[in-house]
Amino acid sequence: MQGNFKYSNPTTLYFGDHSIQYLNDELSKYGSNVLFIYGGNSIKKNGLYDEVLQILKSNQKNVFEDAGVMPNPTLDKLYEGIKIARENKVDFILAVGGGSVVDYAKAVSVSIHCEEDPWDKYFDRFEDVSCKIVPMGCILTMVGTGSEMNGGSVITNTQTKEKIGHVFGENVFPKFAILNPVYTFTVPHYQMIAGFFDIMSHILEQYFSGTDDNTSDYIAEGLMKSLIHSSKIAVKDPTHYEARSNIMWTSTWALNTLIHQGKPGDWMVHMMGQAIGAYTDATHGMTLAVVSLPYYRYIMKDGLVKFKRFAINVWNVNPENKTDEEIAKEGLYCLENYMKELGLVMKSKELGVTESMIRDIARKSFILEGGYKKLSFDEVVEILEASM
Ligand code: NZQ
Ligand code: ZN
Repeated sequence: MQGNFKYSNPTTLYFGDHSIQYLNDELSKYGSNVLFIYGGNSIKKNGLYDEVLQILKSNQKNVFEDAGVMPNPTLDKLYEGIKIARENKVDFILAVGGGSVVDYAKAVSVSIHCEEDPWDKYFDRFEDVSCKIVPMGCILTMVGTGSEMNGGSVITNTQTKEKIGHVFGENVFPKFAILNPVYTFTVPHYQMIAGFFDIMSHILEQYFSGTDDNTSDYIAEGLMKSLIHSSKIAVKDPTHYEARSNIMWTSTWALNTLIHQGKPGDWMVHMMGQAIGAYTDATHGMTLAVVSLPYYRYIMKDGLVKFKRFAINVWNVNPENKTDEEIAKEGLYCLENYMKELGLVMKSKELGVTESMIRDIARKSFILEGGYKKLSFDEVVEILEASM
């Protein structure tokens, strides 16, 4: 393990098909003016909206709704949410939905009492919160982002065509997260598989970095094996409780800061994926799917030891009579087959990326240094071109 670090995570998790019962206990800890944040119609269709509203009312809460949080939540929507929260003197936020709803709820929670423009302060200057934070808890309905137990909040500025994530500190993490795998049964197939790949990508971003013998990498390998196994079951049988519950748990641990401890992280797939998202509004997990293989094939030789280990430990590639490079390539070939088996989008042009957008997307892709190779602008362009 490298460096010195502090590890703690303040989010309380309630897991399982009866986990909603704990909402009563949690609500009793917070104020009475509740902002109930959700997305489109999905929670109304599957009955969760009525159930949550009934629990809020039975706890004598004054409920104010902020509905219509879209996938890839926008800055304009954030301004709307802040206004509703301020007008109603909200003192607790309950987010019910996927990563977009939870990310957005975090952004609202740090903006209600903020005197500056939240985009400038948090998403442009990446400053810490310096005002009162309205506490937030969540009920997760779609897995992938890990937002239920981390400080990430990704907001899209449609004017400047920027999709930017701020990783807030522990004071912004959800106070609690209710994780009922049954809620994920109704997630549409496209969103479900995109979420599965988002999980995979979070693990890979943290795995493909560093050269030491690191416990976090062993945990990452276990998480990947569980995800691969369960996701293959879930694509065929989406209501398979065991598979969906394993995936939900894996998703939380993939990005709740645990496997990032004691090592650097890469995150270039996310930087390019988010920039594609800013230009196309494509589903997050699919933007990661289209750039992953071109990127990993490009940097493979720079991180050969880890790519070889990935092939052997995650995909059971037989190393006999093969060079390190052949083994590493076979591992990426196994990843490609797995992605195709899930049915992921494999080409960025299918997400709406055009040749004329590529240089702009590359310009909006932050270049980070935690992976095996620091890319130049031209190399980002080359990888994006290969993703077409
Ligand atoms: O809006 P509704 O009607 O609820 O429909 C949603 C939405 O259309 C639907 N859905 C969710 N749960 C459902 C359901 N439909 C039926 N039944 C259910 N149980 O799914 C669609 C997608 O939801 P969304 O929340 O957008 O998906 P996801 O969880 O993938 O979140 C994506 C956002 O999270 C950000 C992404 O960039 C993107 O903006 N990320 C957040 C991260 C973090 N906080 O750390 C890290 C990630 O890398 C990611 O960047
Ligand atoms: Zn992601």
